[in-house]
Amino acid sequence: MSDPVLSLENATLSLMGNAGPIDILRGISLNVSEGETLGLVGPSGSGKSSLLMVMGGLERATSGTIRALGHDLTDQTEDQLALFRRDNMGVVFQSFHLIPTMTALENVATPLELAGISDAFDRAASELETVGLSHRGDHYPAQLSGGEQQRVALARASAPRPKILLADEPTGNLDEATGQTIIDLLLGLRDRHGATLVMVTHSNELAAKCDRVLRLRDGLIDA
Ligand SMILES: Nc1ncnc2c1ncn2[C@@H]1O[C@H](COP(=O)(O)OP(=O)(O)OP(=O)(O)O)[C@@H](O)[C@H]1O
Ligand SMILES: [Mg+2]
Repeated sequence: MSDPVLSLENATLSLMGNAGPIDILRGISLNVSEGETLGLVGPSGSGKSSLLMVMGGLERATSGTIRALGHDLTDQTEDQLALFRRDNMGVVFQSFHLIPTMTALENVATPLELAGISDAFDRAASELETVGLSHRGDHYPAQLSGGEQQRVALARASAPRPKILLADEPTGNLDEATGQTIIDLLLGLRDRHGATLVMVTHSNELAAKCDRVLRLRDGLIDA
């Protein structure tokens, strides 16, 4: 079998709170294979978003090993991690993280430009069309609804065709029909480009479409 695309060994995350350290992830080990769709479910506060951030090298694990596409993320500098993400990963954050001073189109086009793609704006426009937002390209995030911002965030993450896509509740703010569009889009990305997907979701429908679902509880994978 080929090496896993993502591999965590006993990953922990502890942050310092006012009343002492908070253990957010308490020893997570898992492998994600190439092209696999992994769902992460569990109650609010169980560590799903934190785990996704650790997998993406956006949050440094306190201990343990995180490997992605053969790179040990725990060894890398912030600059190396940023380059690695640019070239290999798309991330859809739970709170979108769109750049407020850029229009929807600019938000999607910027990572493509940074990746040296010459027709970045055309690609970005077609990506916005895919998520049903061609008419909102010149709007700023503050002028968009939550669901629209979520779709821009998905367009931005998927436009560079990343090998790994990490999505935090990608259908969380959407009505059923739009949520369905996003599910189709995510799974289409996997099917057309062989992307490996890790998604946090509260949606039973989305979870049912994953190859495997892991449940988190109190920072641990619930056996
Ligand atoms: N920066 C931080 N400082 C202190 N505690 C934090 C921080 N980030 C997260 N936590 C705590 O870590 C725990 C896990 O948070 P996380 O956001 O990963 O949960 P989640 O499973 O994604 O929840 P939800 O379903 O509500 O999004 C929570 O108890 C949260 O309060
Ligand atoms: Mg979360």
